[in-house]
Amino acid sequence: MGAGVAGLRAAVELAGHGKVLVVTKEAVAESNTHYAQGGIAVAMEGERDVALHLEDTLNAGDGLVYRKAAEVLVEEGPVRVRELMEWGAQFDREEGRLLRTREGAHSLPRILHANGDATGAEISRSLVAFARAHEGITFAEWTTVTGLVTADGRVAAVDLLDREGQNRQVSARAVLIAAGGAGQVYSDTTNPAVATGDGIALAAKAGAALADMEFYQFHPTALSLASAPRFLLSEALRGEGAYLRNDRRERFMERYHPQLELAPRDVVARAITREGMGAHPGESRVVYLDMRHVKGVNLRQRFPGISAVLDRYGLALERDLIPVRPAAHYLMGGVRTDLDGRTTVRGLHAAGEAACTGVHGANRLASNSLLEGLVFGARAAKAILDEGPAPVAVNQAQIADDEPDFAPDAALEQRLEATITRLQQGMWAYAGLLREEATLREGVRVQEACAADVAELRSEAGMSRRMAEAEALCAVARAILDSAQARTESRGAHYRNDYPQRDDARFQKHSVRTSDGRVTFEAW
Ligand code: SIN
Repeated sequence: MGAGVAGLRAAVELAGHGKVLVVTKEAVAESNTHYAQGGIAVAMEGERDVALHLEDTLNAGDGLVYRKAAEVLVEEGPVRVRELMEWGAQFDREEGRLLRTREGAHSLPRILHANGDATGAEISRSLVAFARAHEGITFAEWTTVTGLVTADGRVAAVDLLDREGQNRQVSARAVLIAAGGAGQVYSDTTNPAVATGDGIALAAKAGAALADMEFYQFHPTALSLASAPRFLLSEALRGEGAYLRNDRRERFMERYHPQLELAPRDVVARAITREGMGAHPGESRVVYLDMRHVKGVNLRQRFPGISAVLDRYGLALERDLIPVRPAAHYLMGGVRTDLDGRTTVRGLHAAGEAACTGVHGANRLASNSLLEGLVFGARAAKAILDEGPAPVAVNQAQIADDEPDFAPDAALEQRLEATITRLQQGMWAYAGLLREEATLREGVRVQEACAADVAELRSEAGMSRRMAEAEALCAVARAILDSAQARTESRGAHYRNDYPQRDDARFQKHSVRTSDGRVTFEAW
């Protein structure tokens, strides 16, 4: 489930060992992977380089990175990236040498990029082409997974809904959730519309434990214009020297962190939020990204995608202050897995942003996510192969007709959209960058009202892609709220106004949320 870097990398590994069906809600290229700009962090210069990458990953994660997972990431990363290059991915080079940039909390430039600021698109292009060349891989595009079917305690099939409204059930020896994150749970996000947390919600419904759901990473610099979506302005801009300035034009990061604009992402995002708060509740001040002083870099050539979008709004990196604000970007938590993608439910595996191995701790190091998809996608597939055939015989593809098809009704669709918007705004207001008990309780109140509306709408209208997304968003929102309430400390991306300190004695642990909604803490 999912055609981003983790899903495709797994599919390639599995091809030739059985039938592989890659299910994706839209066209195959439409994934969070496709929109990744900055690059892929990888240490290709030997042991010392790998050790530094590990150290930076551990430091950025604010005391919560599962060290074994991070070791796997940085040690296996170089092999996976070289392999990807052999399969056709082209990273930017100068005179044959790979170019590397720097982003927040990296101690040195180690980030490979492609076509300037279109790294995800190049990785997606090369993996899609490579996967399409394998006969054993079939793509089900424009298809939504609406349910996981369990038999004898293991996942044995998936319910699918295509864009013509046809349901079918497909049996599966193993199901891999690689459907990415859930940025759409917040009103302000850099993620595309498909990022609604469907895989995470389905896994939880099937009984899988989730972990670290309170840690949602807010990218510090999304474009902040009333007329524009929250378009990502890559951290690589700061890697190439951009400053952050407040509305008095002060370079404010010196008040927040010695690494200034290249501090860990959670620190920069909170600093921008604080600088952007007016003197009164609800008032806001503009914060800017400033590259006007950067010399010796052709900004249009280095950042062609970003420059083209800014052009549409009459802005240019080399000439203008660019208004920015944080937006939901990446979920550090997800379906709890071991280092080989196994969830707590047999037959169900997860990798990439949808999964939580603990590799990012409380705050992901910039540009570690594409690497995570490659490394853990490959490992999950190998584990599936090692497990051999499923012991349970399940029915082959059959039509599931126990649910009425969605009856399109403009009024119901509008109500569904309004409910989703209410949930997204509630999550932004009450479970965003700065939270506290009172706001989280208010968030739960909004979530419960939205979940009740969605249930009512489903009983009236039946299942549809949007209904499945609404259910997923409600489930993911609840997991975030429950986990954020349980963690009464501040760490990484989870900042509580009422508990502003990190509390290692009680909370240097991962939160685990079981499907009954209970949250406990475990040291990994
Ligand atoms: C960016 O280009 O700033 C995003 C990279 C990432 O999410 O790690």
